[in-house]
Amino acid sequence: MSYEKHAWWKEAVIYQIYPRSFADSNGDGIGDLNGITAHLDYLAKLGIDVIWLSPIYQSPNDDNGYDISDYRSIMAEFGTMEDFDRLLAEAHRRHIRIVMDLVVNHTSDEHPWFIESRKSKDNPYRDYYIWKEPTETGAAPNHWESCFSGSAWQYDALTGQYYLHCFSRKQPDLNWENPKVREEVFDLMDFWCRKGIDGFRMDVISMISKDQSFPDGPLNADGYSDMFSHVCNGPRVHEYLQEMNRRVLSNYDLLTVGEAAGVTVEEAKKYANSEGTELGMVFHFEHTDGAANSEPVLGKWTCTPPKLSYVRKILNKWQLELEGKAWGSLYWDNHDQPRVVSRFGNDSPKWRVKSAKMLATVLHMQKGTPYIYQGEEIGMTNRHFSSIDDCVDIEEKNAWQQLVVEQKLIAGETLLKCFDCVGRDNARTPMQWDDTANAGFTDGEPWLAVNPNYPAINVKAALADKQSVFYYYQRLIELRHTLPIVVYGRFEPLLEDSEEIYAYRRILGEQVLIVEANWTGREVACPLFADNSWEELISNYEVHKAGFLQPYEARVVWKSRG
Ligand code: GLC
Ligand code: CA
Repeated sequence: MSYEKHAWWKEAVIYQIYPRSFADSNGDGIGDLNGITAHLDYLAKLGIDVIWLSPIYQSPNDDNGYDISDYRSIMAEFGTMEDFDRLLAEAHRRHIRIVMDLVVNHTSDEHPWFIESRKSKDNPYRDYYIWKEPTETGAAPNHWESCFSGSAWQYDALTGQYYLHCFSRKQPDLNWENPKVREEVFDLMDFWCRKGIDGFRMDVISMISKDQSFPDGPLNADGYSDMFSHVCNGPRVHEYLQEMNRRVLSNYDLLTVGEAAGVTVEEAKKYANSEGTELGMVFHFEHTDGAANSEPVLGKWTCTPPKLSYVRKILNKWQLELEGKAWGSLYWDNHDQPRVVSRFGNDSPKWRVKSAKMLATVLHMQKGTPYIYQGEEIGMTNRHFSSIDDCVDIEEKNAWQQLVVEQKLIAGETLLKCFDCVGRDNARTPMQWDDTANAGFTDGEPWLAVNPNYPAINVKAALADKQSVFYYYQRLIELRHTLPIVVYGRFEPLLEDSEEIYAYRRILGEQVLIVEANWTGREVACPLFADNSWEELISNYEVHKAGFLQPYEARVVWKSRG
């Protein structure tokens, strides 16, 4: 039997909504809360348990809501607090819970705290943020490079000091060393918990504790040094999260997931420890960052498709290492990642559906809480960027400015190809509901162009086709809900040397479940053999070939020895 402590959030499947791109209810081209409420029945049909909402708070939208100017009010473009209350009530009525994005590593520079903070060195809010004197030559305190290109420090002439921003200039970092900042954060969390929300996804929470010596490092070719290693998993991060846990989280029954940039499996065992003193689980990036460019100045901008052996090695390591020590999360897609069928699968018309189902199988039969990103369940794909004018994401635009325009380190054409492969706008094109104008997302002009493939790939078509990716996800979710082995079974890797097949087994008491998936578009020999003592739970092929897996074939079988 399983020794694992049971919890609703371990048994749940989460669906992430990026509100700006989900559904527009009033024709202004921007998705909104009422648009989400209108589609709750669709999500109930899919079978998900929880919605994670990307930020819906008031924001000047420098980074699409990840720059918050008021934590207690709703972004006007998305609706009102009444709209939110209705969404929450309507979701709960359908037994769907709601998890909010908590963005407290930084605020917007338009947040009243920062407006005050910047006024004078002795303003009571000065220490809410991280201010430093310039060097003797007037330069920034060190050469750290922000995650969105350029210096992580911004000079503010009014007081002659620099403030730290790990992301854009309009996202100043909060100073968690200041106990008042922590109290403010705990208060605003309480505010939302008292409304009855069901949890938090915590934005870059691994970055809240900075090395207070702010050490510089060797300069890369672009003239900047690495910031990441000095701000991720910092000296006091676990102390802060334990305080948050005592002060807020332990008073409610919440799902908590930390977005943990730079997290290692060793660190994750602390963040998501089974004693429950910090968070429920974390997102790591090892399987998505893995294919990044080895050239530090180019960072994530690459087009090299990751190899199965690489992705599998990482996912298997996390499965094995967390066992019994910490709970894991499972995801392919989110609003920062390219579409999985384009990245790890094959988005050509011939193989899109088969490979999307194969990838879903590989992920959803693993141990941990799975996350589905809007559109993934119908196999939405990356889009094509023909010019920088097609891009709206600040990460893409800043990278272009620095690498192509200013430093000429990469040709524009090459960077655009990288955007096609890994740019964040890929995930943010509007949800494709049907084959009418703008994919049924809006009656107006969408804020970001819809993917031109919407006449073929959309919810309406998926619902009308029993063989669609949608119904496959529905079945995977149902398996998790009905078979405890899918949630709690121990994970054991199989065929670890294969260049083509991802296979593993799950074990719970007398029960065994086997997953075999062909990661390639070729038929490959597969030594795993399921005789008729095994029952098939799901497959993306109706007919199998003994001893072989057909292109992108995936199959799950199980039996109980008891
Ligand atoms: C996280 C978010 C991303 C955002 C960044 C800064 O990584 O997922 O979208 O740009 O934090 O808040
Ligand atoms: Ca709208």
